[in-house]
Amino acid sequence: MEQNINTEIIPMPRIGDKAPVFKAVTTQGDIDFPKDYKGKWVILFSHPADFTPVCTSEFMTFASMEKMFNKANCQLVGLSVDGLYSHIAWLRTIKEKIEYKGMKNVEVKFPLIEDIKMDVAKAYGMIQPGESNTKAVRAVFFIDPKGIIRTIIYYPLSLGRNFKELYRILIGLQTADEFNVALPADWQPGDDVIVPTAGSCGVAKERMDNESDMTCYDWFFCTKKMSKQNIEDKVLNKK
Ligand code: BEZ
Repeated sequence: MEQNINTEIIPMPRIGDKAPVFKAVTTQGDIDFPKDYKGKWVILFSHPADFTPVCTSEFMTFASMEKMFNKANCQLVGLSVDGLYSHIAWLRTIKEKIEYKGMKNVEVKFPLIEDIKMDVAKAYGMIQPGESNTKAVRAVFFIDPKGIIRTIIYYPLSLGRNFKELYRILIGLQTADEFNVALPADWQPGDDVIVPTAGSCGVAKERMDNESDMTCYDWFFCTKKMSKQNIEDKVLNKK
């Protein structure tokens, strides 16, 4: 572990905050963030360094799943503190040379930000000195179409992310928004969803008297059915 020599204190963004604004150079041209992504969900994620094995496995996996995320109105944006030419060389190597777990010829089409000065990484709390002063941790920010941060996950340098879980989070956030519901532990599309807790004695009684289409485990904990098809129609194929 590197010695902690960085004493600069920068507030970490939190869930519910506006995504910090920045302009950056990327492998797909310049971006003005989050302005350029208005009306779309964005997953902004950092990785520690180009030409490293865990990051390579992650980029190949994420790039292979990109269409699924795009279908859910979500754009992917990567970042590391490496320079643009390193990014370009690494992405070319991935496409031309790396075959991993059945994935080959993988083209990373989403933008990868160069952040040599660490301005963006610092604004998003991606530099965590206890882990590294010189590399970003594996941060994941889910940012909604209004530019609000909705979920944040941080992974350490040594552990690759679970991209199926990132997809589940995206669909979960969109489902909760669209249907005004909450989602229980380990929820997957097609599982029952949680309806808002009864806000009056009358509603609580009604629910416990079995006078609704809900399943109530107690007056404050009621679920209802939500088909995968319904989610596909209203979330994935939202017009
Ligand atoms: C990796 O992606 O393999 C990696 C990057 C930085 C530190 C440790 C592992």
